[in-house]
Amino acid sequence: MQTLTQHLQQQGISEPLCQLILTLAETSKSISRAVRQGALAGVLGATDHQNVQGETQKKLDVITNDMLKEALKASGHVKGLASEEEDEVLPVSEQGEYLVCFDPLDGSSNIDINSLVGTIFSILPAPAGALNEQSFLQSGRQQVAAGYVLYGPSTMLALTTGKGVSFFTLNPDSSAYLLTQDNVTITPDTAEFAINMSNQRFWEAPMQTYIADLLLGSMGPREKAFNMRWIAAMVGDVHRVLCRGGIFTYPTDNKNPNKPYKLRLMYEANPMAFLVEQAQGKASTGYQDILDIQPERIHQRVAVILGSANEVDTCLAYHQETYSDQEPEL
Ligand code: AHG
Ligand code: MN
Ligand code: MN
Repeated sequence: MQTLTQHLQQQGISEPLCQLILTLAETSKSISRAVRQGALAGVLGATDHQNVQGETQKKLDVITNDMLKEALKASGHVKGLASEEEDEVLPVSEQGEYLVCFDPLDGSSNIDINSLVGTIFSILPAPAGALNEQSFLQSGRQQVAAGYVLYGPSTMLALTTGKGVSFFTLNPDSSAYLLTQDNVTITPDTAEFAINMSNQRFWEAPMQTYIADLLLGSMGPREKAFNMRWIAAMVGDVHRVLCRGGIFTYPTDNKNPNKPYKLRLMYEANPMAFLVEQAQGKASTGYQDILDIQPERIHQRVAVILGSANEVDTCLAYHQETYSDQEPEL
């Protein structure tokens, strides 16, 4: 089986990018170890700090963030980094060729129940000049690589450098990432959806109607039965979509008028949208391709609808019918 290093060399990507991806992969092995030790290493539970998102940080959010920061600082190829767990963007090395955005541990609410968590990353080219938040505000189309590591029954890396999507599985004996699936492709049609149904009453009209029609199954306009899954960690839900198709959405809701969206653009939606498009799927806000969004703030949030191309198109048609050309004012 091909190792991650061999695969990157075969893809002909630049040496600095190759080194940076390998740095992220190496760090994920240490994260995987910490996550697996769990209570034995005293890493479970919450801290008494809140992050910039207003969420209480878990111990593992902080530990994994520190691990990634240290590794990226040492890599020499990173000009700056942005993390879900950092208030502001951090300058790293002036000569670094890349910017890295990451969610060090996605699915934090799953930590204490020994369920799926992962690390999500996005790599952008570093613009010339002084590093500041503006340096990062590039659309998702500018990403040169993106991926996630899923700390599940197996530790798996999903990666794209713009030439399709590959899955690597961490061999626990040799500590090597080995290529276990190449050219990952999302089936265009599906009968499986993922949404937090408890927010139903807060969704916009088109999402209400779309999900209601899925729930009607073979009795409704879709004329087929749909199954539902919700892992409560985007990494887990997107991984399932990449493996066997599906539609995953965290749509706009009005539960809290100051927070109409849940997922973060720069280190959740963009890297996942890049992977999904590279696997022949689609990723939209309901009104625009996620990768076309011009970011305005490093921690900005967006609505996400992604997965099997035909199913996402069907969901978008509900949005187009309700609002002819533009996103409604919240
Ligand atoms: P994080 O743990 O990094 O804050 O992200 C959690 C996100 C995402 O991974 C997941 O899809 C969603 O929150 C789960 O939301 P619910 O709590 O509404 O299920
Ligand atoms: Mn997350
Ligand atoms: Mn997180």
